[in-house]
Amino acid sequence: MARISSSVYTSHVPAVGAALDLGKTAEAYWQPVFKGYDFSKQWEEEQQPDVIFLVFNDHATAFSLDLIPTFAIGTAAEFQPADEGWGPRPVPKVIGHPKLAAHIAQSVIQDDFDLTIVNKMDVDHGLTVPLSLMFGQPQAWPCPVIPFAVNVVQYPPPSGRRCFMLGQAIRKAIESYDEPLNVQVWGTGGMSHQLQGPRAGLINKEWDTMFLDRLIDDPDGLSKMPHLDYVREAGSEGIELVMWLIARGAMSDLRGGKKPTVRHRFYHVPASNTAVGHLILENN
Ligand code: DHB
Ligand code: FE
Repeated sequence: MARISSSVYTSHVPAVGAALDLGKTAEAYWQPVFKGYDFSKQWEEEQQPDVIFLVFNDHATAFSLDLIPTFAIGTAAEFQPADEGWGPRPVPKVIGHPKLAAHIAQSVIQDDFDLTIVNKMDVDHGLTVPLSLMFGQPQAWPCPVIPFAVNVVQYPPPSGRRCFMLGQAIRKAIESYDEPLNVQVWGTGGMSHQLQGPRAGLINKEWDTMFLDRLIDDPDGLSKMPHLDYVREAGSEGIELVMWLIARGAMSDLRGGKKPTVRHRFYHVPASNTAVGHLILENN
């Protein structure tokens, strides 16, 4: 059977992608950001995942305001990097895993979660920047990726609680797939940031630290936090953090297993308008 070996959490700051693509990673501003991912790139080489289930948000790129799915699973064979206004990022295309994605859709929808099936979708910085941070600049991404898009752009977003429960349904789906795959589940976006209005530039280090602590030790309690708390404390775009609860919900301590091991934790301010947070949790 497939198993979830670990979960990975990371911000998706678009300027990080630009810094990589334009060869600026050694600059004084960016160096400390990329340093936080040195361990992670090494770790990924050892882990050799077969598939990444990558929870991210589309930023009105693939889905315009014409059609806004709350949860959308990418079932296509491949996904092209999106043009977000400056041309597509010069990164490899994303190879999907249609068979596992279809199995997850079947299981999760029958478990009462409404997913939109997406057979064609370009993927924006929400997905490609986390891949770049974790794998650097390879000719091809090292394994297939199942993109799972969550609406955190147009209100109402799903609650943290629903995301957490969905993560548990995704875990059940993956573990019932009849092939011995090593699967990682990633939760991306966040941490605190606000891109518009009078509070633009808001960053809340204390709150982010609390979020990381509770994500590790009290995910069930954390999942009950109402969305208004995210917006008030972490800024309008801080709501992206509900996606981390999907990945956390997929860890095996939620079905009676042992607590996960924290393999890596990193936090840095600032990067563009955003606090960068990063965690790696391994199942035991
Ligand atoms: C920034 C952060 C985001 O999450 C995003 O989607 C766009 C911009 C920023 O920090 O500039
Ligand atoms: Fe974003």
